[in-house]
Amino acid sequence: MLEITTAWSTAEIYLFGAHVTNFKKHDEAPMLFLSQCSRFDSINPIRGGVPVIFPWFGPREGLPAHGFARTKIWEVKEVTTAMDGSVTVRFRLPDSPEAGAYPPFIAEYIVTVNEHLTMELLVTNRSKDTNLEYEDCLHTYFFVEDIAAISIVGLKGVSYLDKVGGATQRTEGDGPIRISSEVDRVYLDTNHPTEIHDARLGRVIRVEKTNSASTVVWNPWINKAQQMPDFGNDEYQKMVCVESGNVGPNKIVLPPGKTSRLKVTLSSKIEN
Ligand code: BG6
Repeated sequence: MLEITTAWSTAEIYLFGAHVTNFKKHDEAPMLFLSQCSRFDSINPIRGGVPVIFPWFGPREGLPAHGFARTKIWEVKEVTTAMDGSVTVRFRLPDSPEAGAYPPFIAEYIVTVNEHLTMELLVTNRSKDTNLEYEDCLHTYFFVEDIAAISIVGLKGVSYLDKVGGATQRTEGDGPIRISSEVDRVYLDTNHPTEIHDARLGRVIRVEKTNSASTVVWNPWINKAQQMPDFGNDEYQKMVCVESGNVGPNKIVLPPGKTSRLKVTLSSKIEN
């Protein structure tokens, strides 16, 4: 695990999954939620922080949910400190038998820690003649003081797949999103930034993204929390996932020789 301290913030990144588990600005509450029940057994994915979801999103018959990238030990290729004190770590996904089901590719992940947390997933198709099709998602779990006191803005009028109780296509209304039951939604064809307004902390977290057509909003709520072995029964009150990626109909079809870069920048400010 890498521990990073900058003039603005601290961060922790596990090589297992290239998984950011903590980002905290000095004098602010942690930005990311990490479950007290996460297993950290180097087998199961870490519950919380920012799982790197690649090369598929969601369940696949006979295969692990959300792809294999989040359960591989990534190689650290480079750690650099910029003139302004920003720290950047560059990881590379090691070869694995699972990757053999795809045309040859390189996946790199670049995390920059400063006043913000910036994460970039770069995928290069090394095949000479075959498209590389994949889904990706930076599955950010945000820490919130009280789920009942947050609202999410930035998804007004966007179509989404509602995955609670079967898959239904819906359209988001005009108002901010509030969460008072299980939410599992894949918003499609949206490049817009989103914000999480946390009235109890007086904090606004902003999620800015590039090359991401999908935003996923997830909170397991009471019943699902109880069914998850690596998640506390009451922890649904302290988190919300607002994830950035390219999933389902927004999957990436990458021509031979090309690179695709998913970039997400998280920032926050205290408003009162
Ligand atoms: C979300 C999915 O992104 O991740 C949910 O939309 C899923 O359906 C959740 O339950 C957590 O997935 P996992 O595999 O980490 O338990």
